Amino acid sequence: MKKLVWLAAAVAAVALATGPAAAQEVTIKFSHVVAPDTPKGKGALKFKELAEQYTGGKVKVEVYPNSQLYKDKEELEALQLGAVQMLAPSLAKFGPLGVKEFEVFDLPYLFPDKAALRKVTDGPVGKDLLKRLEAKGITGLAYWDNGFKIMTANKQLKKPDDFLGQKMRIQGSKVLEAQFRALGALPQVMAFSEVYQGLQTGVVDGTENTPSNTYTQKVHEVQKFGTLSDHGYIGYAVIVNKPFWDGLKPEIRTQLEKAMVDASKYANDISQTENDEAMAEMKKSGKITFITLTADEKKAWVKALKPVHEEMAGRVGKELLQQIYQTTGFQM
Ligand code: LMR
Repeated sequence: MKKLVWLAAAVAAVALATGPAAAQEVTIKFSHVVAPDTPKGKGALKFKELAEQYTGGKVKVEVYPNSQLYKDKEELEALQLGAVQMLAPSLAKFGPLGVKEFEVFDLPYLFPDKAALRKVTDGPVGKDLLKRLEAKGITGLAYWDNGFKIMTANKQLKKPDDFLGQKMRIQGSKVLEAQFRALGALPQVMAFSEVYQGLQTGVVDGTENTPSNTYTQKVHEVQKFGTLSDHGYIGYAVIVNKPFWDGLKPEIRTQLEKAMVDASKYANDISQTENDEAMAEMKKSGKITFITLTADEKKAWVKALKPVHEEMAGRVGKELLQQIYQTTGFQM
């Protein structure tokens, strides 16, 4: 009897803590392609935690990492169809949606540092870009950082000439294609989930990515050299299916917006540390050797890559590019 009373009390306590079982009204499926242990992976889990907390359990967020549900291109289609409600694709992957302006973020040496980038994403340019998604049935909620990229290959990439004939995996943007062509390399689009195998089997020779993505995909185990080039940036736009978002009760949407603001701050705060730690782990592994460019080598990279800005200005928008130069006060 005592046991039963204890059990009833325990059940009541759980019910109080979680609210009535019927209270859950909404499920958000958040699909992404990277490992949980990355800036985006951790940001998604933070959003889940805060969204469930701020809505008092009325919203449940299911996070599907590692391309478990969909690969790069498929996830955008799934979002538009409403099969998932939330994604955070890299800014290099919006071309297939017809919003190619996001590819401006792929231009080599566009941002001298994160502070300059933040001025763009937090300001009118960033807001205007997210607005362009609405016509596609998508609402843009936030920008999340990953970081600046390194180059990896099985040969040392020190001079632009070292890229000649190298098959380099790219995410898909035309700007990244132009970047590798400017170096004399052969760019190949490949889904993120296929990169490790692509490198291991020699379908591609090298790639570019942030240290956190390089490490968590074990790319350092199948690449002999990495160049600390910081030549470009990878970041994300967190996006939701617009009809779904507009259909939420206003009170719930406000709570989710707050969860997104707080999760975005968290994701952006941890991104540098995540990348620094990944770099330290790769160095410790002894499996890959990192190359630091000399000032002269860096100059040669900048010279080779500078024409990409002009070449791609028509694609990403001349005015947009000028606006970005003006916002950051920087132009290589
Ligand atoms: C890539 O495909 O390399 C990246 O966009 C993956 C990611 O989401 O960070």
